[in-house]
Amino acid sequence: MPRRSLALAAFAVASAAAFAQPAPTWVEEVPFITTPDHVTLAMLELAQVRAGDHLIDLGSGDGRIVITAAKRFGASGLGLEIVPDLVAKSERHARQAGVADRTEFRVQDLFDADLSSASVVTMYLLPEVNLKLRPRLLALAPGTRIVSHDWDLGDWQPDRTVTLEVPDKAVGREKLSRLHLWHVPAPVQGRWCAGPSTLHVAQRFQSFDARIERGGQAGAAWSGRIRGTVLPAPVGGPPRPALAWDDGALRVTAGAAGLPTDTRFVRC
Ligand SMILES: C[S@@+](CC[C@H](N)C(=O)[O-])C[C@H]1O[C@@H](n2cnc3c(N)ncnc32)[C@H](O)[C@@H]1O
Repeated sequence: MPRRSLALAAFAVASAAAFAQPAPTWVEEVPFITTPDHVTLAMLELAQVRAGDHLIDLGSGDGRIVITAAKRFGASGLGLEIVPDLVAKSERHARQAGVADRTEFRVQDLFDADLSSASVVTMYLLPEVNLKLRPRLLALAPGTRIVSHDWDLGDWQPDRTVTLEVPDKAVGREKLSRLHLWHVPAPVQGRWCAGPSTLHVAQRFQSFDARIERGGQAGAAWSGRIRGTVLPAPVGGPPRPALAWDDGALRVTAGAAGLPTDTRFVRC
């Protein structure tokens, strides 16, 4: 089966949204299919988009996610889209919506773009495209929110998934859209030192195992789930410190197990 047919089949089987609209424009592996308005709103609410956010939509289609983020939530936004006509349409829609000053649309391959300015990334792509993007998403600033319509990021489990009814969904058997949210976890894997204390952290996406050594003696050990820049203390069991990513250091935000609040660990 040709790649484009495979892409269509993938969308059809797992239910990307498709609606009464002209025949899809095909580009590489990802077709142009719009996210319906109520799903767009739910994506932006899930990411808690607000004024001050900069949202980048990867494969921005007719610009609706970026325009809604600017108009309804006060954010600024950038749409990256490979089809020039769709970029022209997005710019027209942004002017009509009165948000041209806070939105930008570029004809650009999403794989070539610098995403570092994003505080929120949205996407409605395909599973294999998401997976190819994953290393670049993981390298974004800790705490950056990522929302994907329908498709996940493989074994990087979302922090939250919501399911919406989409009665007029034209592709797939389920009349549902799934929205997945991730917070980019701080990169904390490795060895950290603060005076006589050494902190060893093993990390897999948001999951971490931490253990402290002091003067060569084994100390507290605990596990948890990173929430962006925060490594929370476990609930229940003996007290354990809470940590926060702080400009490349790890700061104790709630002291426990012999580590006072504000102890600052640096890589060693
Ligand atoms: C499923 S549509 C989603 C449109 C919009 N984000 C939405 O949710 O309504 C995917 C879009 O990605 C665009 N696209 C596909 N490959 C791309 C690439 N390599 N770089 C940028 N855009 C791409 C397609 O042209 C299409 O408009």
